[in-house]
Amino acid sequence: MVALQLSHVEARYSRKVIYADASTPEIAGGQLTALVGANAAGKSTLFRRIAGQLSGGGIVTLSGASPQDLRYMPQDTGMTAALSVYESVILSLKQGRGGWRLDAGELAAVDGILQRLNIAGLADAPLAELSGGQRQMVSIAQTLVSRPRVVLMDEPTSALDLYRQYEVLDLLRRYAAETGAVVILALHDLNQVMRACAMTIAVADGRIVATGPTLETLNPDLLRALYGIEARVETCSRGCPMMIVDRVLELQ
Ligand SMILES: Nc1ncnc2c1ncn2[C@@H]1O[C@H](COP(=O)(O)OP(=O)(O)OP(=O)(O)O)[C@@H](O)[C@H]1O
Ligand SMILES: [Mg+2]
Repeated sequence: MVALQLSHVEARYSRKVIYADASTPEIAGGQLTALVGANAAGKSTLFRRIAGQLSGGGIVTLSGASPQDLRYMPQDTGMTAALSVYESVILSLKQGRGGWRLDAGELAAVDGILQRLNIAGLADAPLAELSGGQRQMVSIAQTLVSRPRVVLMDEPTSALDLYRQYEVLDLLRRYAAETGAVVILALHDLNQVMRACAMTIAVADGRIVATGPTLETLNPDLLRALYGIEARVETCSRGCPMMIVDRVLELQ
C-alpha cells in the first residue's frame, strides 16, 4: 500500500511564503482524499509543493512509491500543442521513459484509458478543437494512463457536466481501490467530497487546519471557519449525507 505524509513542509513563490509549516498524518492509498478550502487558501500551492514544482523546507515522504510514480494534474491545463488526443495521451505515457517505440502493452494502456473514460471517440480529434469538458477528460486520461501510484488532481471535475462528474469520481474511487494508489483531489463541491472521498484535508490561509475522515471533518464549525457559511450535514431520505447551506455570513 502507498502512503504520503508531510512533515513541517514549507512552500513559497520566490520570497512569498504560502505555507510555513504544513504537516499531515500518513495519508493512505486505496481510497480518495479530498483537499478543500476557500479560493486562494493554498490548495494548488500544496499540490505544486508535493509535486516538486516549488521549493521549501520540510519533508514529503512517499512510502511504497517514488517521486517518478507521481502524476499531477494542474487546475489550468493548457492544451496548445498541435496534437491529436491519442498522440497527447501517448506523450504522457512516455513522459520519463526512454525511447519512442510503443509496445503492445503501452498501446493497450492508451486504448484502455480512453475507453474507461468513454472518450475513445475523440482519439483522432485535434486538442485545439476540444470543448472545455472534453479537454478536462483528456487531462484525466493523460494523468492516469501510466497507472501512477500517487495522483494529485486539482479540481478535476470543474468543467464537467453532472453525468461526467459522477462518472469520473466513481472511476477514480475504483482506480484507488484497485491499485492502492494515493489519490488526492482538490474539490469545491462538498457533496461530491462526502460521496466520494473517505478522507479530507482542509486548508485555510496557508495552513492545514484539519485532516481526518470526511464526515467527521466537515462539521459546521470547520465550514464556518473555511468558507464563512452557516451549513450543516443532514442525512437524506436514502441515507446519504448531504450538505445544506443555510446562510452566508458577513465577511469579517
Ligand atoms: N505563481 C504565484 N506567485 C505568487 N503567488 C502565488 C502564485 N500562485 C498562487 N499564489 C498565491 O498563493 C496563495 C494560494 O494560492 P493557490 O493557488 O494555492 O490557492 P487555491 O486554494 O488553489 O485557490 P483556488 O480555489 O482559487 O484555486 C494565494 O494568495 C495566491 O495569490
Ligand atoms: Mg487552485
